Parts: sequence; structure tokens; C-alpha cells
Amino acid sequence: MAMQNLRQFLFALSAAGAVGFVAIIFVLRWVLHFKEGLAWDGGLAEFNWHPVLIVIGFVFLQGIAIIVYRLPWTWQCSKLMMKFIHAGLNSAAFIFAVVALVAAFDFHNTAKIPNMYSLHSWLGLLAVILYGLQLVIGIGMYLIPLTPVSWRAAFMPIHVYSGLFLFTSVIAVALMGITEKLIFGLSNPKYKDSPPEAIFVNVLGLLLVVFGALILWIATRTPWKRPSDQILHTLHTNGGSEDITKAGPALSELADGTNTEDGDVRRRSNKLDNLDD
Ligand code: HEM
Repeated sequence: MAMQNLRQFLFALSAAGAVGFVAIIFVLRWVLHFKEGLAWDGGLAEFNWHPVLIVIGFVFLQGIAIIVYRLPWTWQCSKLMMKFIHAGLNSAAFIFAVVALVAAFDFHNTAKIPNMYSLHSWLGLLAVILYGLQLVIGIGMYLIPLTPVSWRAAFMPIHVYSGLFLFTSVIAVALMGITEKLIFGLSNPKYKDSPPEAIFVNVLGLLLVVFGALILWIATRTPWKRPSDQILHTLHTNGGSEDITKAGPALSELADGTNTEDGDVRRRSNKLDNLDD
């Protein structure tokens, strides 16, 4: 099925991929060139896994997981397979985030620095816990075949809202962490004197914001949704009494030219419910 504004979609997708990739290069260059490198020794090189794993896993992989249903070349694949890919990428992002936390806690414990004193650490831990909860509830709702379709449909707006809210929060928490680290780590010259590391890492922060903005844009365009999801979105947002012509190309394509009264649309939507969410 053709996607509306395919060129714009491909542009936004390539931009997100490129910006995300450059952000990963930036965080690696930060820790390998400006800082102590990477190791698992309880020291600063172990702490450096914290930003690296967060940027690769919790920001980049999570961002890709959010938009994976939008890729038009996956629309031939079954919804179940796409759900496994979405859940798999989100699980990988969660594992990266947990290992990133272990690196920060381990470093603090070895250096006898108190744990959990900053706002960054409070919001960060909360984000990881809520993300874990979102993952467990998501798997329970949408991958366990026994869950009633009505529950799936009722919970979907909450799942979408919390997913986008958590992704945005993770980027905000990462920006707080970056700023803290620059303030702690730069002494001669200081952060306020704009040494090259400060400028470089400020740019990393900008890249994370642009990546987040692009992912949120792609995720919130209704015409870029997978066709079966578009239909359900249209029916939900119009209370089921939708004129078929307003339901976008997906529904027109599904319509077989017969009666398009409400009941008919609902019957079709029921047939599609097993594809839902
Ligand atoms: C510490 C979470 C991203 C820098 C912490 C701690 C948590 C946390 C829970 C507390 C560790 C402890 O108390 O022992 C997160 C989460 C992030 C994130 C969930 C992603 C959303 C970043 C990034 C940086 C960073 C990208 C950049 C270097 C720091 C620093 C500390 C820290 C400097 C030690 C000071 C403090 O506890 O605030 N982080 N972090 N964080 N994080 Fe992050």
C-alpha cells in the first residue's frame, strides 16, 4: 500500500537516522578522546559506559523502536512480527539502560560518592523504572494472546502517550546528565570558559534534541501510520461514525465498494481488531 508523502517520510527518516548516528559518534569521541576511555574497573572509564550506553540504547534504539511500525516496506510483514521487533528493540534499550545505571552506581560506590543525590539521578531512575513497567504491561497487553481485544484497544492511547512521554523524558534526563558531567569534569579551563570539550558536548546535546524532535514528528503523523492502525485511529477518534472517504487511503482501499454505513465500517473494524495494537 502506498504511503502519503513518501518523500517527506523518507527525508525525516534519513535525517533521524543520520542525526542519531552522529550523536553515537559524538558520545564515543567524547569518552574516548576527551575523557578516560572505556573500561570496567570501578573508575572514571567505567562511568563512561553510562553516557555511551544511554545514547546508543536508551535514546537511539528506543527512538527506532517507536517508529518501527511506520516503515512502509514492513507493511507486508505480519503485525505480530512487527510487535516482536518493537518489543525486542525496547527490551534491548531497557537492558542498555540498566547496564548504564550499574556503571554509574558502581563508579559511585568505588569512589565513595553518595548515590541518588541529584535531580538527574531521581528522574533517571524513575524513567528506567517506568520504562520497565511500560515494557511489561506492553508485552502483557499486546503479545499475550489471551488478553481481550477490548482491553488492548482501551489501553492503546495510554501506551502511546506513555511511550512518547518516556522517550521525551529520557532525552531531558540525558541533557541534565550531560550538563552535570561538563560542570563536574571541566576545571581548567572551566565550563563557563567554553573549552573545546564543552562546545563539542553541547553539540551532542543539540543532536539528541533534534533526534527526539524528528522521532516525535514521524510518530505523530497519522498518514504515516501502518494502514490497519490508521483505520482504527480514524474510527476511534470519530466514535465509529466515520464517513469512509475521511478515513484516508487505507480505508478506501479496504472498502470493497459495498454499503459503507456505520455498521459496515464497524464490522470491518472488528475484523481488523485482531491486527490492532
Ligand atoms: C548519575 C540515570 C543519562 C551523567 C546517574 C544516576 C542515575 C542516572 C540513576 C545515579 C547513580 C548514582 O547515584 O550512583 C540516568 C538516565 C539517563 C542518564 C536514566 C538517560 C536518560 C546521562 C548522561 C550523562 C549522565 C547522557 C552524561 C554524562 C551522569 C552523572 C552522574 C549520573 C555525571 C553522577 C552524578 C549524579 O548522580 O547525578 N544517572 N542518566 N547521565 N549520570 Fe546519568
